[in-house]
Amino acid sequence: MKKLVEVKNLCVDYITFDGRVRAVNDVSFHIGEREILGLAGESGCGKSTIAYSLMRLHRPPAMISDGEILFEGQDVLGMNDEELRSFRWKDTSMVFQSAMNCLNPVKTIEYQFRDIFEAHNVVKNREESIEKAKELLRIVDIPTERLFDYPHQFSGGMRQRVVIALALALKPKLLIMDEPTTALDVVVQREILQKVYQLKEEFGFSILFITHDLSLMVELCDRIGIMYSGQLVELAPAKEILSKPKHPYAHGLGDSFPTLHGELQEMKGIPGTPLDLSNVPQGCRFAPRCFKATEACRQAEPKLVGAGENRWVACHDPMPIESTPSSTLEAV
Ligand SMILES: Nc1ncnc2c1ncn2[C@@H]1O[C@H](COP(=O)(O)OP(=O)(O)O)[C@@H](O)[C@H]1O
Ligand SMILES: [Mg+2]
Repeated sequence: MKKLVEVKNLCVDYITFDGRVRAVNDVSFHIGEREILGLAGESGCGKSTIAYSLMRLHRPPAMISDGEILFEGQDVLGMNDEELRSFRWKDTSMVFQSAMNCLNPVKTIEYQFRDIFEAHNVVKNREESIEKAKELLRIVDIPTERLFDYPHQFSGGMRQRVVIALALALKPKLLIMDEPTTALDVVVQREILQKVYQLKEEFGFSILFITHDLSLMVELCDRIGIMYSGQLVELAPAKEILSKPKHPYAHGLGDSFPTLHGELQEMKGIPGTPLDLSNVPQGCRFAPRCFKATEACRQAEPKLVGAGENRWVACHDPMPIESTPSSTLEAV
């Protein structure tokens, strides 16, 4: 698979009055062409910071302090303002947390499409803009006569579809979705993600998908990266990460995740609380919560290394593969 995005040793800091907090620490991964890569992990582990950094949409106090981001081999961190403007809608676009509330409430949907088309000089006149916008509404299953309505005239699910249509307006190669459906009910969530999947199949873009809903993630993604405390601790094919986890944290996530099929099982959860990033211990960051941590884990930080075909793990003593957690999705 050809690589569309390569992230190498990315470090992002937040500079606060209390000092420097490293929210993303030495993270490396790639997203293949037409691939859906998921990022999972507890709240505050750095997922959104990565998403924003990829598009260079991070704002102070966030600062990219090290690493490289390549998009089709091009250095994103070295782009000038003009290159960035084009990169942001034409090459990559983003649907973020509560994006449906980001539509301009006093402008019609038609205006919001036209605004993007005109800013990027892709239409000659309003008629052409309306035609293009209607085509985009059609692909997200919204009746084209709704084009002249205002955001408040749509339901939450429809507004999110409009946001997705806007994100796809310039046919980007990468769509970043950060908790795109969290505010919606589960049925609408599923419908929207199915639609996104169909569109991805049809147009061939790649997706970086972030959600705390692991069952949705396993269904939608090709590969999943599990983050803990600003670091990527495991990266594996979606179908293996919860059924055959190698990192004890991924193993714990599998055990705190309800089954859709099979017998009712007790969910165990992961003891302890997420790490305070302003006070990072020596050694492995997960060691204080890890049931199999040894002295070696408390001394030296494990690096993300290859661990079998298409798998990477950052652990001194990865789980043996037969130690499948008790509750995994039989259906996946
Ligand atoms: N505006 C901010 N100021 C200071 N620190 C921040 C800010 N935003 C995020 N952080 C830090 O970055 C960490 C990662 O945040 P974020 O990327 O939003 O996590 P996630 O999306 O995984 O929930 C947080 O735990 C917090 O320590
Ligand atoms: Mg987030």
